[in-house]
Amino acid sequence: MLKLPGLIDPHVHVREPGQTHKEDWDSVTQAALAGGVTMILAMPNTKPPIFDEATLNLALDAAKGKARCDYAQFLGAGPDNADWDRHKGLPLRAAGLKMYLDSTFGELRLDDMTLWMPHFEKFPKDFPIVLHSESRTMAAGILFAAIYDRPIHIAHVSLKEEILLIKAAKEKGIKVTCEVCPHHLFMVSQLTDEERGKKKEGRDEVRPRLATQEDVDALWQNMDVIDCFATDHAPHTLEEKDSENPPPGFPGLETLLPLLLTAVSEKRLNIEDIIQKSVTNPRKIFNIPEQPETWIEVDESAEYEIKAENQFTRCGWTPFEGWTVKGKVMKVVLRGKTAFEDGKVLAEQGYGRNVRQSCKTSPM
Ligand code: NCD
Ligand code: ZN
Repeated sequence: MLKLPGLIDPHVHVREPGQTHKEDWDSVTQAALAGGVTMILAMPNTKPPIFDEATLNLALDAAKGKARCDYAQFLGAGPDNADWDRHKGLPLRAAGLKMYLDSTFGELRLDDMTLWMPHFEKFPKDFPIVLHSESRTMAAGILFAAIYDRPIHIAHVSLKEEILLIKAAKEKGIKVTCEVCPHHLFMVSQLTDEERGKKKEGRDEVRPRLATQEDVDALWQNMDVIDCFATDHAPHTLEEKDSENPPPGFPGLETLLPLLLTAVSEKRLNIEDIIQKSVTNPRKIFNIPEQPETWIEVDESAEYEIKAENQFTRCGWTPFEGWTVKGKVMKVVLRGKTAFEDGKVLAEQGYGRNVRQSCKTSPM
């Protein structure tokens, strides 16, 4: 039995408020615990999106009643909410600021670079801005980090050109960190260059899209440039994924660690990489307190098949269905209490703590 610290997933779509038929604070935190994840950072592209005091309270109230693992909630950058200097209490209550610079699922999007500027100027510099920015948009985001001299964290890096540029930016001393998702490390796009971006295969739809073997190889070759593993757990129901207009996104909380441990058993990764990228680095980057008396126990030699029917996520499917993996989460202890054991979630609703709670100050 291998003992590891509880994992932190810095990129999770909870779907509450607004789309609880896909997932909610209860089901998502059950999925997290089953995956060995004891803390999630929740993305703001809910319905309504989380972008001000009222909507932040909406998400945090739901979380307070239902979450079974620890958490923090991101604020979203919109066209009209960049006056963070006048609402100082808000950033302190959030995981950070998420900026959507490319199109994806949800309403938050900033097309015009003049809309990026006030957020870069005014969001407190001790909390990172997380960018959804692909390819050349990512290069623009890095230029902004350099100009405004503030930390940014690039979400879900998937391309060779992206990881190479981040490497070069780090060498120049620009304050950039990044995360990579398991699906971009373990899956290769089956589409040709011509088909990519045109063809709609619901269950393959994800943003950023699955990339080529060359891109996947570049991520593995530059493992030292990757700061964090993040699932980008983005649950949509099977019915939605198989519909005419499938929304992009994969669930991932329950498959993250088994996939990484399988890579360890194949000697493509080591345990230290997992601890660094799923615990130490996210804690540092997002300014997260340590979770005392928190650990997970995994059976490194347990081999089994991934099956959606064994998962806690409400979405009812996984892109890794039928994959054989080696490494199983047996037990999770969160702040001294057994939260998951023998396939059962034991932590109750409301046991999860908002890790930004101690920062609570009155807004304005
Ligand atoms: C995400 C979602 O469904 O909320 N989808 C995805 O494909 N990753 C949005 C996002 O993170 O871009
Ligand atoms: Zn996402």
